[in-house]
Amino acid sequence: MVIRNVTNNYPEIDRERLPRHVAIIMDGNGRWANALGLLRSAGHVAGVKTLKRILKTAVNLELEALTVYAFSTENWKRPLAEVDFLMHLFSEYLEKEKLEMHENNVRIHFLGRIDELSPLIQSQVRDAEQLMQHNTGVKFNIAANYGGQDEIVRAAKKIAAKVLNGQLDVDRIDEKIFDAELDTCDCPPVDLVIRTSGDMRVSNFLLWQSAYAEFWFTQTNWPEFSSEEFIQALVDFGKRERRFGAVKSS
Ligand code: FPP
Repeated sequence: MVIRNVTNNYPEIDRERLPRHVAIIMDGNGRWANALGLLRSAGHVAGVKTLKRILKTAVNLELEALTVYAFSTENWKRPLAEVDFLMHLFSEYLEKEKLEMHENNVRIHFLGRIDELSPLIQSQVRDAEQLMQHNTGVKFNIAANYGGQDEIVRAAKKIAAKVLNGQLDVDRIDEKIFDAELDTCDCPPVDLVIRTSGDMRVSNFLLWQSAYAEFWFTQTNWPEFSSEEFIQALVDFGKRERRFGAVKSS
Protein backbone atom coordinates (compact mmCIF):
# COMPACT_ATOMS: atom_id res chain seq x y z
CA MET A 1 0.00 0.00 0.00
CA VAL A 2 1.40 3.37 -0.98
CA ILE A 3 0.99 5.98 1.71
CA ARG A 4 0.04 9.55 0.79
CA ASN A 5 1.19 12.65 2.58
CA VAL A 6 -1.45 13.51 5.13
CA THR A 7 0.25 16.37 6.96
CA ASN A 8 -2.90 18.41 6.35
CA ASN A 9 -4.72 16.02 8.67
CA TYR A 10 -2.55 17.26 11.52
CA PRO A 11 -3.18 21.00 11.78
CA GLU A 12 -1.18 21.07 15.06
CA ILE A 13 1.99 20.32 13.13
CA ASP A 14 4.10 23.21 11.97
CA ARG A 15 6.17 21.65 9.18
CA GLU A 16 8.88 24.25 9.66
CA ARG A 17 9.42 23.02 13.22
CA LEU A 18 9.44 19.28 12.62
CA PRO A 19 12.63 17.48 13.69
CA ARG A 20 14.74 16.32 10.76
CA HIS A 21 15.98 13.19 12.52
CA VAL A 22 14.03 11.32 15.18
CA ALA A 23 15.54 8.41 17.11
CA ILE A 24 13.47 6.01 19.19
CA ILE A 25 14.36 3.67 22.06
CA MET A 26 11.50 1.22 21.74
CA ASP A 27 11.32 0.08 25.36
CA GLY A 28 8.73 -1.78 27.41
CA ASN A 29 7.72 -4.76 25.29
CA GLY A 30 8.42 -7.15 28.16
CA ARG A 31 6.64 -5.06 30.80
CA TRP A 32 3.62 -4.67 28.54
CA ALA A 33 3.42 -8.44 28.05
CA ASN A 34 3.96 -9.21 31.76
CA ALA A 35 1.20 -6.83 32.77
CA LEU A 36 -1.19 -8.77 30.56
CA GLY A 37 0.05 -12.17 31.74
CA LEU A 38 1.60 -12.85 28.32
CA LEU A 39 5.05 -14.11 27.37
CA ARG A 40 7.73 -11.51 26.65
CA SER A 41 7.75 -12.76 23.05
CA ALA A 42 4.16 -11.54 22.67
CA GLY A 43 5.42 -8.11 23.70
CA HIS A 44 8.01 -8.15 20.94
CA VAL A 45 5.41 -9.23 18.37
CA ALA A 46 3.23 -6.32 19.46
CA GLY A 47 6.34 -4.11 19.31
CA VAL A 48 6.79 -4.91 15.64
CA LYS A 49 3.20 -3.76 14.97
CA THR A 50 3.98 -0.48 16.67
CA LEU A 51 7.11 -0.08 14.59
CA LYS A 52 5.07 -0.50 11.38
CA ARG A 53 2.59 2.13 12.60
CA ILE A 54 5.29 4.64 13.51
CA LEU A 55 7.19 4.17 10.27
CA LYS A 56 3.92 4.76 8.37
CA THR A 57 3.42 7.98 10.28
CA ALA A 58 7.00 9.05 9.55
CA VAL A 59 6.34 8.42 5.85
CA ASN A 60 3.09 10.38 6.04
CA LEU A 61 4.86 13.30 7.62
CA GLU A 62 7.79 13.06 5.21
CA LEU A 63 10.29 12.99 8.08
CA GLU A 64 13.84 13.05 6.83
CA ALA A 65 15.25 10.35 9.09
CA LEU A 66 13.98 7.85 11.65
CA THR A 67 16.34 5.62 13.63
CA VAL A 68 15.12 2.83 15.90
CA TYR A 69 16.99 0.75 18.46
CA ALA A 70 16.07 -2.86 17.71
CA PHE A 71 18.90 -4.76 19.41
CA SER A 72 21.84 -3.48 21.41
CA THR A 73 25.30 -4.99 21.85
CA GLU A 74 24.21 -5.61 25.47
CA ASN A 75 20.99 -7.46 24.50
CA TRP A 76 23.00 -10.67 23.94
CA LYS A 77 22.92 -11.01 27.76
CA ARG A 78 19.21 -11.93 27.55
CA PRO A 79 18.12 -15.58 27.72
CA LEU A 80 19.05 -17.42 24.52
CA ALA A 81 15.41 -18.17 23.69
CA GLU A 82 14.55 -14.46 23.77
CA VAL A 83 17.58 -13.53 21.64
CA ASP A 84 16.62 -16.22 19.11
CA PHE A 85 13.05 -14.99 19.05
CA LEU A 86 14.13 -11.39 18.45
CA MET A 87 16.40 -12.48 15.60
CA HIS A 88 13.57 -14.50 14.07
CA LEU A 89 11.24 -11.49 14.30
CA PHE A 90 13.86 -9.26 12.75
CA SER A 91 14.32 -11.63 9.84
CA GLU A 92 10.56 -12.03 9.34
CA TYR A 93 10.03 -8.26 9.54
CA LEU A 94 12.58 -7.62 6.80
CA GLU A 95 11.13 -10.29 4.56
CA LYS A 96 7.51 -9.21 5.00
CA GLU A 97 7.91 -5.45 5.00
CA LYS A 98 10.64 -4.63 2.53
CA LEU A 99 8.46 -4.36 -0.58
CA GLU A 100 5.95 -2.07 1.08
CA MET A 101 8.79 0.07 2.43
CA HIS A 102 10.25 0.23 -1.07
CA GLU A 103 6.88 1.24 -2.56
CA ASN A 104 6.81 4.04 -0.04
CA ASN A 105 10.21 5.32 -1.12
CA VAL A 106 11.77 4.45 2.27
CA ARG A 107 15.55 4.08 2.27
CA ILE A 108 16.53 1.47 4.79
CA HIS A 109 19.95 1.31 6.39
CA PHE A 110 21.35 -0.74 9.27
CA LEU A 111 23.58 0.47 12.07
CA GLY A 112 25.80 -1.71 14.21
CA ARG A 113 27.86 -4.87 13.87
CA ILE A 114 25.70 -6.54 11.26
CA ASP A 115 28.61 -8.86 10.39
CA GLU A 116 28.05 -10.67 13.72
CA LEU A 117 24.43 -11.55 12.91
CA SER A 118 23.43 -14.82 11.23
CA PRO A 119 24.32 -15.31 7.55
CA LEU A 120 20.60 -15.27 6.70
CA ILE A 121 20.03 -11.90 8.38
CA GLN A 122 23.19 -10.47 6.86
CA SER A 123 21.97 -11.37 3.40
CA GLN A 124 18.47 -9.98 4.12
CA VAL A 125 20.05 -6.77 5.35
CA ARG A 126 22.16 -6.47 2.19
CA ASP A 127 19.14 -7.21 -0.04
CA ALA A 128 16.95 -4.65 1.69
CA GLU A 129 19.64 -1.95 1.57
CA GLN A 130 20.34 -2.67 -2.07
CA LEU A 131 16.66 -2.67 -3.01
CA MET A 132 16.08 0.74 -1.46
CA GLN A 133 19.46 2.36 -2.05
CA HIS A 134 18.16 4.91 -4.58
CA ASN A 135 15.00 5.81 -2.70
CA THR A 136 14.65 9.42 -1.66
CA GLY A 137 12.03 9.28 1.12
CA VAL A 138 12.44 8.65 4.85
CA LYS A 139 15.91 7.44 5.82
CA PHE A 140 14.96 4.54 8.04
CA ASN A 141 17.83 3.26 10.16
CA ILE A 142 17.54 0.10 12.21
CA ALA A 143 20.18 -0.27 14.91
CA ALA A 144 20.81 -3.99 15.37
CA ASN A 145 23.73 -5.34 17.41
CA TYR A 146 24.44 -1.67 17.95
CA GLY A 147 26.22 0.20 20.72
CA GLY A 148 27.11 3.88 20.57
CA GLN A 149 30.52 3.42 22.20
CA ASP A 150 31.30 0.52 19.89
CA GLU A 151 30.34 2.65 16.87
CA ILE A 152 32.70 5.42 18.05
CA VAL A 153 35.55 2.96 18.58
CA ARG A 154 34.99 1.48 15.10
CA ALA A 155 35.05 4.99 13.58
CA ALA A 156 38.26 5.80 15.48
CA LYS A 157 39.89 2.63 14.13
CA LYS A 158 38.92 3.52 10.53
CA ILE A 159 40.44 6.96 10.99
CA ALA A 160 43.60 5.54 12.59
CA ALA A 161 44.00 3.17 9.63
CA LYS A 162 43.71 6.10 7.20
CA VAL A 163 46.34 8.01 9.16
CA LEU A 164 48.64 4.99 9.24
CA ASN A 165 48.47 4.40 5.51
CA GLY A 166 49.06 8.07 4.77
CA GLN A 167 45.53 8.83 3.45
CA LEU A 168 44.78 11.31 6.20
CA ASP A 169 46.76 13.90 8.11
CA VAL A 170 46.18 13.84 11.90
CA ASP A 171 45.66 17.60 11.94
CA ARG A 172 42.75 17.29 9.51
CA ILE A 173 40.72 15.15 11.92
CA ASP A 174 37.71 17.11 13.08
CA GLU A 175 34.06 16.45 13.86
CA LYS A 176 33.12 16.32 10.19
CA ILE A 177 35.79 13.74 9.35
CA PHE A 178 34.77 11.70 12.39
CA ASP A 179 31.08 11.92 11.54
CA ALA A 180 31.74 10.55 8.06
CA GLU A 181 33.04 7.29 9.57
CA LEU A 182 29.94 6.62 11.67
CA ASP A 183 27.19 4.19 10.65
CA THR A 184 24.80 7.15 10.24
CA CYS A 185 27.11 9.09 7.92
CA ASP A 186 24.42 10.22 5.48
CA CYS A 187 21.95 11.45 8.10
CA PRO A 188 21.61 14.81 9.82
CA PRO A 189 22.32 14.88 13.58
CA VAL A 190 19.55 13.54 15.80
CA ASP A 191 17.11 16.30 16.78
CA LEU A 192 14.81 14.30 19.00
CA VAL A 193 15.22 11.09 21.02
CA ILE A 194 12.02 9.43 22.19
CA ARG A 195 12.11 6.72 24.86
CA THR A 196 9.01 4.78 25.82
CA SER A 197 8.09 2.98 29.05
CA GLY A 198 9.32 5.39 31.69
CA ASP A 199 13.08 4.85 31.97
CA MET A 200 15.11 8.00 31.47
CA ARG A 201 18.46 6.92 30.19
CA VAL A 202 20.32 6.86 26.92
CA SER A 203 21.41 3.19 26.99
CA ASN A 204 24.40 3.58 24.65
CA PHE A 205 22.23 4.80 21.77
CA LEU A 206 23.56 7.28 19.20
CA LEU A 207 25.92 8.91 21.71
CA TRP A 208 27.72 11.02 19.13
CA GLN A 209 24.74 11.86 16.93
CA SER A 210 22.51 13.06 19.77
CA ALA A 211 25.00 15.61 21.17
CA TYR A 212 22.37 18.35 20.89
CA ALA A 213 19.22 16.27 20.73
CA GLU A 214 16.09 17.04 22.69
CA PHE A 215 14.77 14.15 24.79
CA TRP A 216 11.13 13.16 25.14
CA PHE A 217 10.01 10.45 27.55
CA THR A 218 6.69 8.71 28.03
CA GLN A 219 5.39 6.10 30.47
CA THR A 220 3.64 4.31 27.61
CA ASN A 221 5.12 0.92 26.80
CA TRP A 222 6.25 0.56 23.20
CA PRO A 223 3.42 -1.81 22.12
CA GLU A 224 0.90 0.87 23.06
CA PHE A 225 2.75 3.84 21.61
CA SER A 226 0.32 5.38 19.13
CA SER A 227 0.76 7.61 16.10
CA GLU A 228 -1.04 10.31 18.08
CA GLU A 229 1.51 10.15 20.87
CA PHE A 230 4.32 10.17 18.33
CA ILE A 231 2.86 13.31 16.79
CA GLN A 232 2.53 14.82 20.26
CA ALA A 233 6.27 14.30 20.76
CA LEU A 234 6.97 16.05 17.47
CA VAL A 235 4.67 18.93 18.34
CA ASP A 236 6.33 19.29 21.77
CA PHE A 237 9.72 19.29 20.08
CA GLY A 238 8.54 22.20 17.92
CA LYS A 239 7.93 24.23 21.09
CA ARG A 240 11.40 23.68 22.56
CA GLU A 241 13.95 26.43 22.38
CA ARG A 242 17.18 25.03 20.98
CA ARG A 243 20.25 27.09 21.70
CA PHE A 244 23.09 24.70 20.77
CA GLY A 245 25.23 26.19 23.53
CA ALA A 246 24.55 29.78 22.52
CA VAL A 247 22.45 32.34 24.41
CA LYS A 248 18.84 33.12 23.62
CA SER A 249 18.50 35.40 20.61
CA SER A 250 16.54 38.59 21.41
C1 FPP B 1 12.71 -3.33 24.57
O1 FPP B 1 11.72 -3.98 25.29
C2 FPP B 1 12.75 -3.80 23.24
C3 FPP B 1 13.77 -4.50 22.66
C4 FPP B 1 14.99 -4.95 23.33
C5 FPP B 1 13.71 -4.89 21.30
C6 FPP B 1 12.91 -3.99 20.42
C7 FPP B 1 12.30 -4.85 19.45
C8 FPP B 1 11.15 -4.66 18.82
C9 FPP B 1 10.33 -3.46 18.89
C10 FPP B 1 10.65 -5.72 17.96
C11 FPP B 1 11.63 -6.24 16.99
C12 FPP B 1 12.21 -5.21 16.10
C13 FPP B 1 12.36 -5.35 14.79
C14 FPP B 1 13.04 -4.31 13.98
C15 FPP B 1 11.82 -6.50 14.09
P1 FPP B 1 12.19 -4.85 26.53
O2 FPP B 1 12.19 -6.27 26.09
O3 FPP B 1 13.50 -4.34 27.02
O4 FPP B 1 11.04 -4.56 27.53
P2 FPP B 1 11.17 -4.42 29.10
O5 FPP B 1 12.17 -3.33 29.37
O6 FPP B 1 9.80 -4.08 29.52
O7 FPP B 1 11.64 -5.77 29.59
